[in-house]
Amino acid sequence: MSKIIPHGGSLITLYEPEFDYGTLKQEIELDNMSLTDLNLIANGAYSPLKGYLNKEDYESVVDRMRLTDGTVWSLPIILPVNEKQANELTIGNWIKLMKDGVVYGVLKLNQLYTPDKAKEAANVYKTNDQQHPGVKKLFERPNVYAAGEIRQVRKPEKGKFNQYDLTPVLTRKKFSDLGWNTVVGFQTRNPVHRAHEYIQKAALELLDGLFLHPLVGETKSDDIPAEIRLESYQVLLDNYYPKDRVVLSVFPAAMRYAGPREAIFHAIVRKNYGCSHFIVGRDHAGVGNYYGTYDAQKIFENFTNEELGINLVFFEHSFYCSKCEGMASTKTCPHGDENHVILSGTKVRNLLRKGIHPPTTFSRKEVVDVLLKGFLE
Ligand code: ADX
Repeated sequence: MSKIIPHGGSLITLYEPEFDYGTLKQEIELDNMSLTDLNLIANGAYSPLKGYLNKEDYESVVDRMRLTDGTVWSLPIILPVNEKQANELTIGNWIKLMKDGVVYGVLKLNQLYTPDKAKEAANVYKTNDQQHPGVKKLFERPNVYAAGEIRQVRKPEKGKFNQYDLTPVLTRKKFSDLGWNTVVGFQTRNPVHRAHEYIQKAALELLDGLFLHPLVGETKSDDIPAEIRLESYQVLLDNYYPKDRVVLSVFPAAMRYAGPREAIFHAIVRKNYGCSHFIVGRDHAGVGNYYGTYDAQKIFENFTNEELGINLVFFEHSFYCSKCEGMASTKTCPHGDENHVILSGTKVRNLLRKGIHPPTTFSRKEVVDVLLKGFLE
């Protein structure tokens, strides 16, 4: 079995399909984000959480990136309900958690509280600007948070991701079956471009296996859709990675775009999936210019290695350099920016939309072919 200790000491599993919810009258309608969070609490990805945060833990996470017991936790995992719905709920009751007429879980309601959203935005996202997609979402969601332990009674449809959707229990088993002692986790919400490949392979030179773990929950509308990305990952792995060194599976969480705070969250969750190491490169989980290029690396200085329980692998900005005639980074290349192939996500999307191939020094041809097909369909 995996030697990686889950966050908080043990892997939580709260899937209980036999839970008898037939007589329960009260219900909460989940949004996409709270439905994905329900699933990730239940499958242990969010260990040690057993439910949506109560007021004390929520405030402690917002203020100091820790639960009240001191465990490191950087993002509030909360269940917003609208005021009308909240007025109909009874503290102490089991409540059905529904989405579009289907019961996915139950909540032992122990608190309803009103959050300080301005403070949540300022601390978690470092801005109150509603142009920020995470802040926009925060203010769009209802204004009362419901707290309590959950049970999951039905897993969400996996749809197209069926074969790629492994729970922490399964990935831990897989890594151990493969005989890997060290596993490096890689979070992404993008296709894997040459820079991503470079840092993944640099890590693979030193570690046993790579866990390619693309986020496939809600992203902002101009990010490339997950189905297209998945096809591009597969084609890349088939052509350029040794088969026995990589596991590809999806991370069915919503993207928060919380930069540094989300990097901590991403690392801890990958520890729960069985990773010993986690990659954080430039502007991890960033959006626009809200965070400094390496803020998502610096934030880890607030914690000891013991309390994080996962090794961080930091990379500087990587690119193809025409003078080096290969991939390099600000750490290894002495040449000026004019020699570097650097394209923003927006620029790449604009090229794809026009049917133009970005250079192969930026992205592999096979990957671009898949993306173009997706864009032009
Ligand atoms: S993220 O929002 O999921 O973090 P993205 O898919 O762009 O976005 O990045 C995945 C990982 O690769 C992150 O750790 C990010 O910091 C890193 N990364 C992305 N591009 C580069 C690059 N050019 N150089 C170094 N690291 C990078």
